[in-house]
Amino acid sequence: MPATRRLAEELGVSRGTVKAAYDQLVAEGYLTARQGAGTRVAQLPAPDAEPPGASARARVPRFDLRPGSPDVGAFPAAAWLRALRRAVDAVPSAAYDYGDPRGRMELRTALSGYLGRARGVVAPPERIVVTSGYVQGLALLTRVLGGAEIAMEDPGLPFHREVVRRGGGRVVPAPVDERGVRVEELGDSAAVVVTPAHQYPTGVTLHPSRRRALTDWARARGALVVEDDYDGEFRYDRQPVGALQGMAPGQVVYMGTASKTLGPALRLGWMVLPPDLVDAVADAKLHSDHHTESLGQLALAELIGGHAYDRHVRASRLRYRGRRDRLVERLGARRRVRGIAAGLHALVDVEDEAGVLERAAAAGLAVGRLGEHWHVPGTEGRPQGLVVGYGTPREGMYAEALEALGEVLDAEV
Ligand SMILES: Cc1ncc(COP(=O)(O)O)c(C=O)c1O
Repeated sequence: MPATRRLAEELGVSRGTVKAAYDQLVAEGYLTARQGAGTRVAQLPAPDAEPPGASARARVPRFDLRPGSPDVGAFPAAAWLRALRRAVDAVPSAAYDYGDPRGRMELRTALSGYLGRARGVVAPPERIVVTSGYVQGLALLTRVLGGAEIAMEDPGLPFHREVVRRGGGRVVPAPVDERGVRVEELGDSAAVVVTPAHQYPTGVTLHPSRRRALTDWARARGALVVEDDYDGEFRYDRQPVGALQGMAPGQVVYMGTASKTLGPALRLGWMVLPPDLVDAVADAKLHSDHHTESLGQLALAELIGGHAYDRHVRASRLRYRGRRDRLVERLGARRRVRGIAAGLHALVDVEDEAGVLERAAAAGLAVGRLGEHWHVPGTEGRPQGLVVGYGTPREGMYAEALEALGEVLDAEV
C-alpha cells in the first residue's frame, strides 16, 4: 500500500484519516502491517468461484409447475401497505414490546369472525394461537404431544413428516384412498394429521361418511384430529366445504395459513385449539420465539377487518379456477386429471413418473411427482402421477408453461 503521507496528499485528506482507514482494514484482515515493512494487502484465499446460492439459482426452471406456492406475483402489495400503514398509525407504542404468545388480540378477533364465516370454524379469540405458518403450528403441537405417535396421510408432504420427526414425534402412515383418509386403518395414535378440504397431494375431499368416522374415532380414543386447511378457501364447483373442526371443536386442532391466500413469505398461520390445549401450545410458542412478529399480524387484522382479504381471496379463486379449467382443457382429453374441485394443484395420471420427469426437466419444466409423497418412497405397484401446481407461474407465463407440460405428456401416449 502507498505510504500514508503520500496517499493523504494524493486524496487531499488528512494523514489521520488515511491511517484510520488502514487501521480499520488491518483490523478486518484485508491488510497486514508490520513494523518497518509497511502495509501490505493480506494474502486471502480466492473467493469461491460460485457464490453461495448461485447453483440453486442456476437450477431455477423456466416453467415452474411444482405445487406448494400461490401466484406470488398477485400479492396485493398496495392493499397490504395501506393495511400496514393504518395499523402502525393506530397502535399504541406498547405494540412494539413483547406481547401475548398467542398473538395480537386484533388479529385473533379478526380471525375469529373470518374463520366462523368463511370456514365454519368455532373460533373464540382466546382459543386461537397465531403462528409463523402452519409448519410452526405442527412443530409446536408435536412438542406438546411429547414424543407421541402421530399418524400422517400417506401419500402426504414429506417435509411435514420430517417436521414431526425432528420434533420428537413418531410418525406412522394413515393411508388415503379416493374418499380421503382410511379411518378404519387408524390405530392408537395420539393424533392424526389430515387435509380434509383438498387432500395433499391426491386432491380428494374427505367423504362425508369419513368426516363423521374420523371425529368418532378421535372421540372414542381421546385422540386429536389435526386439520390442515391450507387451501380450503379455493373450492371451484360449489361453496367451500366447511372445516371439520366445526363438527368437533373439542377434538380437532384447526390450522390455517396465509401462505396460499397471500404468500408464504408472510409466515403467518393460526391454530384454533380445543380449550385444554391452549395453555400448553401458548407456552411452547413462548419458548420457541416469544410470539409471531406483531406488525404483520396487525396488517393482516386490518386486511381482514376491512374486507380486502375477502376481496383478494374471491379474485384469486376466480383466477385459479380459470387456470384449472385451462389445465383440464389442455390435458383432460387424454389424461385423467384428479383433485380438480379445489386448491392450487391437481394430480395427473401417468404411466412412468421418472420418464416424464426426465423429459420435463429437459424442457425446462419442473413439476411434482406422486412418488416422492409416500411414507416409503417408490413407485412399484403404486399409481403414478404428476402433482401439478397451477398457482405458481406468473400470469404471463401460464399459457407457455401449460403448453410445455402438454407436449411432455403428449410424448408419453
Ligand atoms: C399441505 C400443506 N399444508 C400447509 C402448507 C402451508 O404451510 P405454511 O403455512 O407453513 O407455509 C402447505 C404449503 O405448501 C402445504 O402444502
